[in-house]
Amino acid sequence: MEQRVVTLENMNPHVIKMEYAVRGPLVIRATAIEKELQAGAQKPFQTVTKANIGDAHAMGQKPITFIRQVVSICLMPSLLDDPSIPDDAKQRAREVLAGCKGGSIGSYSDSAGIEAIRRHVAQYIERRDGFPSSWENIVLCAGASEGIRGMMKMMIKHDNSIKPGVMIPIPQYPLYSATIAEFDLHQIGYYLNESTNWGLDMAELERAYNEAKAVCNPKALVVINPGNPTGNVLPRENIESVIKFAHERNLFLFADEVYQDNVYAEGCKFHSFKKVTSEMGPPYSEMELASFMSCSKGYMGECGLRGGYAEIVNLDPRVKAMYLKSISAKLCPTTLGQAVMECVVNPPQEGEPSYEQFQAEKKAVLDSLAGRAKMVVETFNSVPGMSCNIVQGAMYAFPQIKLPEKAIEAAKAAGQAPDVYYAFQLLENTGICIVPGTGFGQCPGTYHFRTTILPQPALLKTMLEKFREFHTKFVERYQ
Ligand SMILES: Cc1ncc(COP(=O)(O)O)c(C=O)c1O
Repeated sequence: MEQRVVTLENMNPHVIKMEYAVRGPLVIRATAIEKELQAGAQKPFQTVTKANIGDAHAMGQKPITFIRQVVSICLMPSLLDDPSIPDDAKQRAREVLAGCKGGSIGSYSDSAGIEAIRRHVAQYIERRDGFPSSWENIVLCAGASEGIRGMMKMMIKHDNSIKPGVMIPIPQYPLYSATIAEFDLHQIGYYLNESTNWGLDMAELERAYNEAKAVCNPKALVVINPGNPTGNVLPRENIESVIKFAHERNLFLFADEVYQDNVYAEGCKFHSFKKVTSEMGPPYSEMELASFMSCSKGYMGECGLRGGYAEIVNLDPRVKAMYLKSISAKLCPTTLGQAVMECVVNPPQEGEPSYEQFQAEKKAVLDSLAGRAKMVVETFNSVPGMSCNIVQGAMYAFPQIKLPEKAIEAAKAAGQAPDVYYAFQLLENTGICIVPGTGFGQCPGTYHFRTTILPQPALLKTMLEKFREFHTKFVERYQ
């Protein structure tokens, strides 16, 4: 074959550098094992349990009926005549369709999304926070990922080869490290404190910032609250300190709040960055802030329909114009995802026919997740050599594992990081697919993994027992 035009040597090096562990080599192997099992291969297990990704429906969570009714009508307006679909679902769908060009969900929307839905998002934020929100600051996006990447793109400008720096938590959700690598930005990691339930320490933020200042131009600070993979929920006073820190150093704030509905632990409450900056008043309420929400998480779990929004406040109007121009080149986010977001921000109200069922379904999902969060933590903490912080929110646990020296040597001999080695052994022996801590970042010399809490309760129980057995045997083998 002739020399190809694009080769590994001449292609975009930033794409080579980027990594996304949540769908990395372990998942590729897990999928291969599934195929081997289907082809009749004999293994110590019959099925693969994918606890690697926050994809609730993939793990058996049922969709919320109201959301599916609205989306179904949007796709098939003749369902408006279906007597089994309640009137409020029909009404929402009519509103969405009225906002669609030509009255069809199949048409392009405005690049920032359907205006009526943007207005409902702003009203939702006002109800949530008790402060004004302008619909013109709302941009609908195909999942929060797209919104985050679109805004982060605005940060790229190297001054005399000094890169802009983006502060991200370690451990982090690898969308951030991947995007930073792809956009050739400088990653400034600040460690979350495992000994205080993954607390966000101001001294650590300061350390990370000061060290990075010598090599980059720190420009933005990302906070994930509730945390992925750490499951921590930030107290209000902590958020206030972070805001002051960002203000003093002139940093653009990225508030990743996709898990705002997923708070389980007693005494924990979600506080949005927008609310806290608003409560603090000027100059903090004048800071540039982008906050993100998604329909993939919460009680909805509609990951594949790709809906989300960004609320972006206090942008320089000239920058905002450029930002809107940049998203216009992608035409529009998926209109189905927008319809889902409409249901999230404008759910059935008391007195409407779908209200009770909607509330019951939402509560059932969130209660079950809270139960599973507890079950995961209690089990891991009962296994010698494992310790796990309370899962206060989100959908993950990030336990620490103590690995024997001989296991670390075996990993080295296999050319793998110790936690990667552990995760592969777990997969090959039990069919459980998790993501090693390396994919998220961790304090040097410590080893972790992330598991979701998403397998349904019976499966989760079995998975945790298998996990305990595997860990005990693994440690014994390398003692
Ligand atoms: C912290 C965080 N932010 C953003 C996302 C992106 O979600 P989506 O693009 O599906 O909205 C995820 C997905 O897991 C996440 O965990």
